[in-house]
Amino acid sequence: MSIAVNTKNDVFLLNTKSTSYAFGVDDRGLIRHLYWGKRIDSVEELEIPQLTEVSTNDPVFEITKEEFPVHGGLRYKEHCLKATFADGTRELVYQYCGYDVEKAEDWEELIVHLRDDHYEFFMDLRYRVYPQYDLMERSVELKNQMDSPIQIEKLHSAQFHIPYEGLNFSNVHGHWGAEQQRFVQKVNYGKIIIENRRGISTHNHNPYFILDRDATETSGEVYFGALRLSGNFSGVVEQTQYGETLVQMGLNSHDCLLELAPGESFTAPSILCGYSDSGFETMSHNLHRFARNYLLREGCRPVLYNSWEATEFHVNSQDQIKLAKQAGELGAELFVLDDGWFGERHSTQNGLGDWYVNEGKFPNGLEELISAVNDLGMMFGIWVEPEMVNPKAQLYQQHPDWIYHYETRVSDTSRVQYVLNVTKPEVREFIYNMLDNLLTRYDIDYIKWDANRPISQTGPQRDIWYKHIQTVYDIVKELKEKHPNVLFEACASGGGRIDYGILGIFDDFWTSDNTDAYDRLYIQDAYSRIYPIKAMRAWVTDCPNFLSGRVIPLKFRYHSAMMGTLGVGCNILKFTPEEIELSKEMIRQYKEIRPIIQEGDFYRLENPSANEYFLYEYRKEDRGVLFAFLPQSKVGHRGTTIRLRGLDGDGRYTLNTPEGPVTKSGSYLMNRGLDLRLSGDYASVIIPFVKESED
Ligand code: DGJ
Repeated sequence: MSIAVNTKNDVFLLNTKSTSYAFGVDDRGLIRHLYWGKRIDSVEELEIPQLTEVSTNDPVFEITKEEFPVHGGLRYKEHCLKATFADGTRELVYQYCGYDVEKAEDWEELIVHLRDDHYEFFMDLRYRVYPQYDLMERSVELKNQMDSPIQIEKLHSAQFHIPYEGLNFSNVHGHWGAEQQRFVQKVNYGKIIIENRRGISTHNHNPYFILDRDATETSGEVYFGALRLSGNFSGVVEQTQYGETLVQMGLNSHDCLLELAPGESFTAPSILCGYSDSGFETMSHNLHRFARNYLLREGCRPVLYNSWEATEFHVNSQDQIKLAKQAGELGAELFVLDDGWFGERHSTQNGLGDWYVNEGKFPNGLEELISAVNDLGMMFGIWVEPEMVNPKAQLYQQHPDWIYHYETRVSDTSRVQYVLNVTKPEVREFIYNMLDNLLTRYDIDYIKWDANRPISQTGPQRDIWYKHIQTVYDIVKELKEKHPNVLFEACASGGGRIDYGILGIFDDFWTSDNTDAYDRLYIQDAYSRIYPIKAMRAWVTDCPNFLSGRVIPLKFRYHSAMMGTLGVGCNILKFTPEEIELSKEMIRQYKEIRPIIQEGDFYRLENPSANEYFLYEYRKEDRGVLFAFLPQSKVGHRGTTIRLRGLDGDGRYTLNTPEGPVTKSGSYLMNRGLDLRLSGDYASVIIPFVKESED
């Protein structure tokens, strides 16, 4: 049982395999945090400390570790909820009024019922415990049972208390073409705020927190949480005056107002959270396993070819068929036709919204290309950007009022496009029908759903920052009910929608438009901290790279992309015979190791060398793969030692090294390690290994 309750003092203990989380109800009815960390077993031992005021300037509410602080009273710290009632009252006063427990095969959920002291307004704090993943999911449900509306001005889904000061906070910063740039900063007095206000969530920061006490990959305490939302989020980390660090995350209140109509309820996006006392690796493993087993659909993702970088908007049936033939030769399993196939789409200037096949480019319809692709034994995928419209498109001419706008203002274009107000029923219906028709009429296995600009001029509605993305989720969920085999890739001008809100509704992330194989090592490393490898799309593209201008050997480019779900985005018609042979070999090898990469555990290995080696291990049951990269050799071409992790110490493993097979015990490989020396620039190697059977 993962939820234990001491009914004598209303204390709750939530246990996973190796962690515990506890809180209780005090004599004032406040929900007080008691513990988060390594597992403790007895709910009876937990007590709620008596609160004494330090001084009149440090009111009890400020010192109290509340699970869900609301706005009101002598509370000045960050609150999770601020609401205004119809009579103008902006203070919440809650009372505890009981709990319920719900159960399913994989989880148990504790629901703590709170109600306002005066108004028929209810708050349910939800704690879903996934014991086998060492994770918990927190959320809150608000219910208005009055006959007047309630305005929600601020809503963070949960507050977390970490009983330390001087923690390290890590997240990512970035922008288009440079997403997932990891940063770490010391938490000090004051607040750290990460947020997104653009409607497209994750170019600049990502909706998660990692707080550690000088942890390494394999040691030290780490507290983490990931918000399940792709829209505007905000997160606050605050080291308080009272010896603890607080974290909240939830909807961004910037320009946002939710109205709860009479009888209406609203569940805030949940936060997937956990604790590790053995470093970042455990955090990543727990999240990855949860995502793989619980959110993502079964089976490995196909090797794809995408023609975007080869042809950009200049697509036509014959050229795409030529590319498809070559892609099939190389071993691709899915051919994706990117932007440019519809309407008058010859550049960014026109076409978005006019989702009919361009007859000039595809005189025999899409069928010709699709059947050629299918005859080559590949699946077919297609690009769409359904939330957008170009001003010149027929759709905009017919429905100028479908875009986000104010009646008295001119809406801004960005990439020559407007954002459709997808929350309007007629727009939602248009998008759903357009995609449903596409999927019904054509044999399409994969949709790459793009969104290339932020939202602006939202119109009078102040809830669209939340409702926009919920509508996108709903459309895809509904499409999947009717077309269950279609895979959806979440792309937003590169990696602008990488989060646990969209993961599972969509099957793949487009990680970044930055496909430079060296830059990708950093992007992929940061991505892997929180998100599963199985959803990390990575392409091999041409050199010089269009962003970095770098020229990197094809093998290194393949190896870097093989760390995720492999794709090829080169102009493969220009490949030399050597490049064709190498591509065939790399794709063949990828298919062999794919289950280990996509469904195994991932390890960011330590590099003890002064040379900048990037070392990674993937392992699934008895098989594994090592990746080693040396982008630039310096320090006298010094070698490195790869110390593997997660092996059976007594088992014997054979590694297929470039010098030939090496068989060693698990304990040797994990402690002494394998020496490796790469030389030259952009050197890389993949070393598969297998555990020898015991008989
Ligand atoms: C941005 C995406 O990230 C690219 O991969 C490509 O699909 C373009 N949009 C197409 O316009």
